[in-house]
Amino acid sequence: MMMDEESEILTRVGSGTPMGNLIRQYWIPALKSSELVTDGDPVRFRLLCENLIAFRDTRGRIGVMDHRCPHRCASLFFGRNEEGGIRCVYHGWKFDVDGNCTDMANVPPHQDFKHKVHAKAYKATERNGIVWIYMGDQANIPPLPALEATLQPESSIHIAMTQRDCNWLQALEGDIDTSHFDFLHRGAAKAEDFSPDNPERFGALRRDPEYKVIDTDLGTMYGAHRPADEGNTYWRIAHFLFPFWTMIPNRPFDDYIVARAWVPLDDEHCMYLIVRNVKKKGVDEDPGRYLPNTTDWLGRWRLSANASNDYKIDRQAQRISSYSGITGTNEQDQMTSESMGSILDRSFEHLAPSDRMIIQTRKRLLLSARAMAKDGTTPPGSRDGDAYFDVRSGYYVAPKDADFLETYRARLSVLRHPVARPCAQAAQ
Ligand code: FES
Ligand SMILES: [Fe+2]
Repeated sequence: MMMDEESEILTRVGSGTPMGNLIRQYWIPALKSSELVTDGDPVRFRLLCENLIAFRDTRGRIGVMDHRCPHRCASLFFGRNEEGGIRCVYHGWKFDVDGNCTDMANVPPHQDFKHKVHAKAYKATERNGIVWIYMGDQANIPPLPALEATLQPESSIHIAMTQRDCNWLQALEGDIDTSHFDFLHRGAAKAEDFSPDNPERFGALRRDPEYKVIDTDLGTMYGAHRPADEGNTYWRIAHFLFPFWTMIPNRPFDDYIVARAWVPLDDEHCMYLIVRNVKKKGVDEDPGRYLPNTTDWLGRWRLSANASNDYKIDRQAQRISSYSGITGTNEQDQMTSESMGSILDRSFEHLAPSDRMIIQTRKRLLLSARAMAKDGTTPPGSRDGDAYFDVRSGYYVAPKDADFLETYRARLSVLRHPVARPCAQAAQ
């Protein structure tokens, strides 16, 4: 059972809160590059409880700032994005992407004080189709995290965003809870539905994995294991990485490059970002899957199956062919996270051995948020973007007696140094 005070620390992300301060130590993936058009309409959005606008200026640079004009606080969302900056339409003040006031059009030249005025701007950059924002100390900006999926060229990866209408942490916790997979998503599957060489059939045979959970330099990690064929174990390996990243085990370990972020928009909404090297044809491309984006603070990337229509649940399908009756893995996950309430009341839970990863991740987050609040301790990975590269998730079958961590490290090392691959050696 979690104390209210601990839940408060974990879930609140506004400026000045312990978790809000912690997350502000990291770069945040906030928009798709495609959302910002040169000299196009500003985009209105919320991030960590702050109402912001983003725009792409005439030279293609990205500006992100508090939506309030520093003159008399009219919203810059209504501004004119023109000639290298955004101009407030109230009195004509203009700001470049760094927040510098470049024109104070309603003040005579001898009274001009534009060099003293700055919009509250945040550093933004983009890489491979994603716009990143840093909301911490603007004079001390860390490197971007080298998450493998985000280093791939945009043409070879799939990027999707989905707003989830609940607190970020309960959404993230759904991602590190592998035992739900063979119920919520695969409850109707039978072992014979899988080809004999697909290890996922072991998940259909045994839906009660045991877990190894450990702390890592960047967060937490689990290996969920259950018996495979004679003498072997089926492993599903996954990670939580500070501050809001997950890597899930839903594809073969050697081929899966994935990063998932659970970005808090405010305390009751988050944006789920997935970047991966696999496209799911059909589901990802269904034009009716998303509602049209609006200019609301929370109007981007919302699914058409949502709480207002019970996620389009089909009770007949639930009886005969689909465990949940809800179509789409993401939609199924949205239903479970959002149905817990905007901010899950953790005093109501009864956690089980299958929740060890969730328990450990909460502990780790709490420890880091408290340490930072107490004496400014730098949270894990926030200054070491390169460390994020050497992490992978996925599933594999290994000999029953093989050590969990040794096997993981050996497989990762083979991927990083392919010359050592057994098949490469055999070919020589
Ligand atoms: S409020 Fe923006 S220029 Fe006056
Ligand atoms: Fe799920």
